[in-house]
Formats: sequence, structure tokens, C-alpha cells
Amino acid sequence: MKRPIAVFDSGLGGLTVVAQLRRALPNDWFVYFGDTARVPYGCKSADTVKRFAIQAVEFLLQFEPKTIVAACNTASAMALETLQEVVDVPVVGVIEPGAKAAVQAANQRCIAVIGTEATINSQAYHRAIWQIDPQARIVAKACPLLVSMVEEGRQPTDAVVEMVVKEYLQGLKEHEPGVLLMGCTHYPLLREAFGKVMGPEVTLIDSACHTAKKVVEVSGEANTEKNAEGGTVRCYVSDNAERFATLGARFLNEPLGYVSYVPLDALIADPGGALGVMANAKEDPRHVGRGHWG
Ligand code: DGL
Repeated sequence: MKRPIAVFDSGLGGLTVVAQLRRALPNDWFVYFGDTARVPYGCKSADTVKRFAIQAVEFLLQFEPKTIVAACNTASAMALETLQEVVDVPVVGVIEPGAKAAVQAANQRCIAVIGTEATINSQAYHRAIWQIDPQARIVAKACPLLVSMVEEGRQPTDAVVEMVVKEYLQGLKEHEPGVLLMGCTHYPLLREAFGKVMGPEVTLIDSACHTAKKVVEVSGEANTEKNAEGGTVRCYVSDNAERFATLGARFLNEPLGYVSYVPLDALIADPGGALGVMANAKEDPRHVGRGHWG
């Protein structure tokens, strides 16, 4: 079997990145870890997020991925450099590709960035943007309520969503930004609500699309032959596989074929002890949707 692309996130949100990756790399297969037992990462400290990200990557290494993608903006903001130092496989985050696209689209106008509290406070997007354009004007706002509203299944046209989005974005709008950088995995699902508040002259940037392009570059040879695994996604989660399988379809844009529970204890007690975790995951009765790996 060809080597997969491994993706991790704090939970469900990274599936928006997988959706873009599958479009860009239709003949590749993907293995995904969602840390649903410890989500959200967006309000946690840098040390904690780094530790969780390392554990996720240690788990994923057993699949011998050719590339690892930190789909979570918060984990990318806080742990990417550490991961790149300790792992031999290329690790791609979502911050730099999103920043690059924002600078290009802004064309000297102000850049508005939204994300979790941790992402915004880390100023990771600021640094990445200033690396490309040191003169760039940036305004940023943490929007912590949005993640739970998306997970609750609220639509961009929902009255509560519209009210909260307006409340968060109003202050940014006063700076007349040229772009709004959606710096969180869940935000593309609220794109319409952002567009309504910001107006048609503001370009919405989805880090996920640009990350997919970067992964294509980094992964080198894309699989060109059609094969049975192409486009398939094998998901492992640290809690509640059923909920993940049900809600995940909205993030991936189609039903999930394979979701398996990985006990967090095994992940922590035996970091990188790949085969042990794998065996537990396969035999766990809470495993749902075997897909064609059954
Ligand atoms: N995946 C996270 C991010 O993109 C959002 C959810 C969380 O706070 O863990 O920042």
C-alpha cells in the first residue's frame, strides 16, 4: 500500500482540511487523528497544545506517512516548529499557507484575522504575514463562541450565528480590511455569515485550500494511478467515535467510511508504541463504520 498523508486536529474541524486535500490529491489516501477527548485546544496553553500535538504525531507515525499535516490552526500556531524539529517526515501547518494567500489577496490593504483565543494570542499569523510583508497592517480578533456553534450544527443563516458573527467582526470592519483570514478549522462552514457582515469587497481566505496546495508541493510525487485506497480517509479519535462519524460528514462534505476509537490512555502510556494502539483501536467495540478496511 502507498504511504498515506497523515492529518491531525483537536477534533472534527480538520476534516475541512482533509476535504481540500482529497480534491487536490484524489489518488492519495489519508489517515486522520482527532483528539476529541481533549478538544478544544483553542483555550489551552502552548505547553499543553505542544504535548498533545506530539502525542498525535507519535500515534500517526505508525502509518509511515509521507507527509504530516497539522490541520488545527491552534496546534500549527503553537507546535509546528517543535514538530518539524523532532519528526523526520515533512510537517505542514495551516498558518503559513493562509498568511501567504492573505498577503497576496490583500494587495496592501489591511488584513483581518480571526481564530481561537490561543491562535490569536500567539500572534502566529502576525509573524507569518510580517515575514512576507513587514509593512502589512493587521487587525485580529479571537472568536471563541464560533467553534461550538458550528459543532452544534448551526448554519450561517441561523439568527444566533448572525448576531455573534456581527458582534465579533464589527470592530474589524472599521479598519476596512481587504481580506478576512479564517484562521480556524471550523470557520469555512460559516463563510456565508462572514461574507454578509464584511461585504463583497472583502475576500475571505480559507487556510485549508492553500494548505492543500502546499501539501501537494511538499509531498513531491502525487499518486497518479487510480487505486482502491485513493481518496479514502481512515479516522481515529480519542473519544466518541459515533458523534465524530455523525458530525464529521458535514465537515468532510460526505459520509465518513471508517472511524475508530483510540483510548487516550494507550496514546499517553505508550507514545509511538504504534502497534499496541492500533490493535486496541481495531478491536474496540465502539468502532463504527468499517468501510472497506473491515
Ligand atoms: N481546530 C481548532 C483550530 O483550528 C479549533 C477547535 C479547538 O479549539 O480545538 O484552531
